[in-house]
Amino acid sequence: MSFYVTTPIYYVNAAPHLGHAYSTIAADVMARHMRQRGEDVFFLTGTDEHGEPVALAAEREGLTPQELVDRNAPRFVDLMPRLNVSNDFFIRTSDAEHMAKVQEILGRIRDNGHVYEGIYEGWYCPRCADFKTDAEAGDDNLCPIHKTPLTREKEDNYFFRLSAFQDDLLRLLDEQPEFVMPRHRYNEARSFIESGLQDVSLSRSTFTWGVPVPWDEKHVFYVWFDALLNYYTALSYAREGEDLTERFWPAQFHLIGKDILKFHAVFWPAMLLAAGLPLPEHVFVHGFLLIGKDKMGKSAGNAIDPFAIMDEYGTDALRFYLMREVSFGHDGSVSLEGFRARYETELANDLGNLASRTIAMVHRYRDGVVPDAQLDPDLAAEIDGLEGEVRALLDRADLTGAADAIWLRVRRLNRYVEERAPWQLAKDEARAGDLDSVLASLAEALRVVAVLLYPWIPESSAKLLQALGAPQLELASARVQAGRLGAIAKLDQLFPKH
Ligand code: ME8
Ligand code: MG
Repeated sequence: MSFYVTTPIYYVNAAPHLGHAYSTIAADVMARHMRQRGEDVFFLTGTDEHGEPVALAAEREGLTPQELVDRNAPRFVDLMPRLNVSNDFFIRTSDAEHMAKVQEILGRIRDNGHVYEGIYEGWYCPRCADFKTDAEAGDDNLCPIHKTPLTREKEDNYFFRLSAFQDDLLRLLDEQPEFVMPRHRYNEARSFIESGLQDVSLSRSTFTWGVPVPWDEKHVFYVWFDALLNYYTALSYAREGEDLTERFWPAQFHLIGKDILKFHAVFWPAMLLAAGLPLPEHVFVHGFLLIGKDKMGKSAGNAIDPFAIMDEYGTDALRFYLMREVSFGHDGSVSLEGFRARYETELANDLGNLASRTIAMVHRYRDGVVPDAQLDPDLAAEIDGLEGEVRALLDRADLTGAADAIWLRVRRLNRYVEERAPWQLAKDEARAGDLDSVLASLAEALRVVAVLLYPWIPESSAKLLQALGAPQLELASARVQAGRLGAIAKLDQLFPKH
């Protein structure tokens, strides 16, 4: 089976921040898990480089838009390996291949009769690169998101006949109730569509930084139409001399934040219908990372620096924190104190101690060889079902549920150590068989947990599995099997105390 997962493509007019890292890490967890299953995976991320916000930022800095994006895009490109994110391609919407494909698809939408010429008159927020209704502008004509003045725009535009897709979109939501996930976001999309769809601007003619409209050179495409198409265009040129579209389109999951729901749950399927292209299976909408009660982001100027955290604690620690702290699909607060607390309790204590104790006891009591003994049947039963559970949860992008299920077992194993107290058994020669069984059960359960945790903390998992002498990462190896382990290595603290 093929599995195609995407992140939003990020605006390059500011530096990457923790919010961008969050979406990207979530997609990476899914991609890595699906690769463990042996699926044919494609994972896309990238940068959104056109539009008025970029043009305005460049102007402020005395650069051309191209200079600005060429300076800033590498910060996002470099973020990916730094986060240990395994994207298969990084798209930049200024790529010539993307631009040509955008012209082709939007030309097709026009040929299919869904585009007309008109005059746009109304409110516009340059920060959002989005048009606002009179209701959104309110009495004060401020952007409801940025609280900055809206501009009054009057310009020649081409329009996309979004209104004509209202019934099709409602039918889509009826027939594919998991097109938008989770449920509360599905409801939001549905009521947005039911409240009535207005046609939207497809082009802008007051600036030139964008994909030229092929049938009218005075226009460039409105940045959102150019940007959304990245999910489709990338497949046509990500691999030199190969077109991956047949193999990976339609996508299984678009992961996005709730700020861009309208574009992905309404505009995007309408565009694809207008072009006669298959629709993706799921748009999964996650919540916001908050600092206190406020959205963390470049505009708010209150971002926590992901690089500083990774420098001090390592990449896995950041990945793990973000995925554990903020329930996927909901908003959640993040803070340095919260990070340190979770690092200490869960990574250093729960997992780190479990790993070092288990490995140390095998060395102390059995000369570094995991005994080939019968496994504790109760413990084995609690661990053996985990792989199926995690699989089912990740099928629904329930990243939080999957991590919770694994962590229950990590805690269970720590209790098991306390209950069985191997150091007591070791004092009694008559209980050598019990000690063999306890050590074998612990080591094997630890191995299974490490395989399943790999998508969240790839570096630490791989290190632990290496020490256990069982480097296999395939999900199929996450079943409990007696006698699998033998001689093991020593292991440094996976998560040293700070
Ligand atoms: O909207 N919490 O780009 P963008 C969680 N270019 N996620 C956050 C976040 C936060 N506080 N802040 C940002 C754009 N994000 C467009 C998208 S897609 C075809 C075009 C994440 O740089 C989240 O995924 O503003 C959000 O949707 C995205 O970054 C917005 O990034
Ligand atoms: Mg934004």
